[in-house]
Amino acid sequence: MIELSAKAVSHPNIAFIKYWGNRDSSLRIPVNGSISMNLAELETITTVTFTPSLSADQLTLNGKKADPGQVQRVTDFLDIIRKMAGFNFFADVVSTNNFPTGAGIASSAAAFSALALAGSKAAGLELDEKTLTRLARRGSGSASRSIPDGFVEWLPGSTDEDSYSISLASASSWDLRDVIAVVAADEKKTGSSEGHGLAGTSPFQTTRVADAPRRLSICREAIISHDFDKLAAVMELDSDMMHAVMMTSTPALFYWEPASLRIIKSVPMWRNQGIPCAYTVDAGPNVHILCPASSKDDISSRLSNMDGVVTVLETSAGGPARLLEK
Ligand code: PMV
Repeated sequence: MIELSAKAVSHPNIAFIKYWGNRDSSLRIPVNGSISMNLAELETITTVTFTPSLSADQLTLNGKKADPGQVQRVTDFLDIIRKMAGFNFFADVVSTNNFPTGAGIASSAAAFSALALAGSKAAGLELDEKTLTRLARRGSGSASRSIPDGFVEWLPGSTDEDSYSISLASASSWDLRDVIAVVAADEKKTGSSEGHGLAGTSPFQTTRVADAPRRLSICREAIISHDFDKLAAVMELDSDMMHAVMMTSTPALFYWEPASLRIIKSVPMWRNQGIPCAYTVDAGPNVHILCPASSKDDISSRLSNMDGVVTVLETSAGGPARLLEK
């Protein structure tokens, strides 16, 4: 029996300059560029095995059979790989995260970057990094940024060919930490795929997008020169701008919980007390606090004592998606 199999590991990433809104939602071409850092200690490991005897794709997530919606998203993605490889075999996909599921840590970036790498390799394709970032993008936009090493920029482009990601600096180039305050949420939030579709309904989106090249350039400079104060200012502004768009779309999306706002208000005070740190928030209530390694313990203990903080996770800058021995 023919068996085409490969295994890959990949990290989620946290965006300093955010992706919110597509110019082409089926190809996931974003309206603006974005910059992020891979998160080393969090990882997804995925094994893909194309098997001629299967009559449909199968997906196991953290030891459990996935629901039909999740399987469909994986099938849609594998269809792109099957087309590139020129065959029709279905696949058995087994994926595990080492971070708590349901904790609101964005898992789609790690999931689709690992699936792009393992799936393309299992299909016998030898894709270069640029092509892999374009492929991962089709599963989840931010997954494009989890393929290259360390600090990564997604160049928005305007077509499938020119919308891809590159490493700006390696993970080892700057010892930044991400201290993540996991905050309890009352309700299930609107997912990012749906959220991107609402971005254009906010009157603030045009302004946010028009100013993106300026913020990207400041962020790039801050990463290259290891200028934490510069990074802190642009990162908080960018997160606030994205949430302003979310809160003013129709329907309005409010991702912050009271504890999220308590942290957002505390971080600049801690900075004024001489502790370098800066916040950013994705499409959920958790707050990511970026800081130099020297202030991570202080931040972690302050967060642990705050009302509404369920857990605190700590991670450093992560490497690229990579293949593993089976
Ligand atoms: O890749 P998606 O469709 O899950 O979108 C990610 C959106 C944000 O996390 C809010 C921002 C970002 O750039 O990661």
